[in-house]
Amino acid sequence: MDFSVRRAGLEDRPALERLIGESARGLSLGDYTGEQVEAALRSVFGVDTDLIHDGTYFVAEAGGEPVGCGGWSKRRTLFGGDRYGARDSGYLDSRTDAAKIRAFFVRPDWARRGVAAAILETCEREARAEGFRSLELMATLPGVPFYAARGYEGIGRVSYEISDGVTIEFVPMRKEVGGIQRAGDSGQNHPR
Ligand SMILES: CC(C)(COP(=O)(O)OP(=O)(O)OC[C@H]1O[C@@H](n2cnc3c(N)ncnc32)[C@H](O)[C@@H]1OP(=O)(O)O)[C@@H](O)C(=O)NCCC(=O)NCCS
Repeated sequence: MDFSVRRAGLEDRPALERLIGESARGLSLGDYTGEQVEAALRSVFGVDTDLIHDGTYFVAEAGGEPVGCGGWSKRRTLFGGDRYGARDSGYLDSRTDAAKIRAFFVRPDWARRGVAAAILETCEREARAEGFRSLELMATLPGVPFYAARGYEGIGRVSYEISDGVTIEFVPMRKEVGGIQRAGDSGQNHPR
């Protein structure tokens, strides 16, 4: 069966939260313990509604069901869904800042079928069209081989205490994409 990619709407949130749970539980256990995955689902893993409002979060669908999601952001928050407290919803400047790649999750029975790659291509194209020349993200350990295959370079490992006594490792990653600077573009990225 084939899949298609469309922009996410607010009404997709409950289904996407379920998908994120299935994805993290099904595809992260080689890299994280069950305790780490459950703590991450209560804190950092989840939908960031700011991206849905900006029109920069996407759903991959097959047979009318979501099988993957992911997005990009023109805001400062580097990672974390609505439940995560450490956020900065201020807008980036495409002339000097890197756009953020955010919250990619694929349903386990759809893994390794190009779903995340299709969403990432859409994100990279849109970020470049808005003048961004670099992209950065905070990868989970299972995300690292995927982003590395798409040309992102890891910059060491970092640890975050995501809930009382539970720490999780992430890898900051970055890619230069060379922006398409539009005539008259101020570099500011405000919602339209
Ligand atoms: C990371 C994730 C989003 C990748 O989704 P996906 O749809 O399976 O990825 P794709 O099929 O588009 O993979 C594209 C390429 O990335 C690389 N890749 C993806 N997953 C990989 C893995 N587990 N191991 C090694 N390489 C991998 C491969 O080169 C792959 O191409 P190939 O299948 O032709 O070899 C998915 O594994 C996932 O949802 N993981 C759990 C949630 C998570 O940690 N998300 C990342 C948040 S930062």
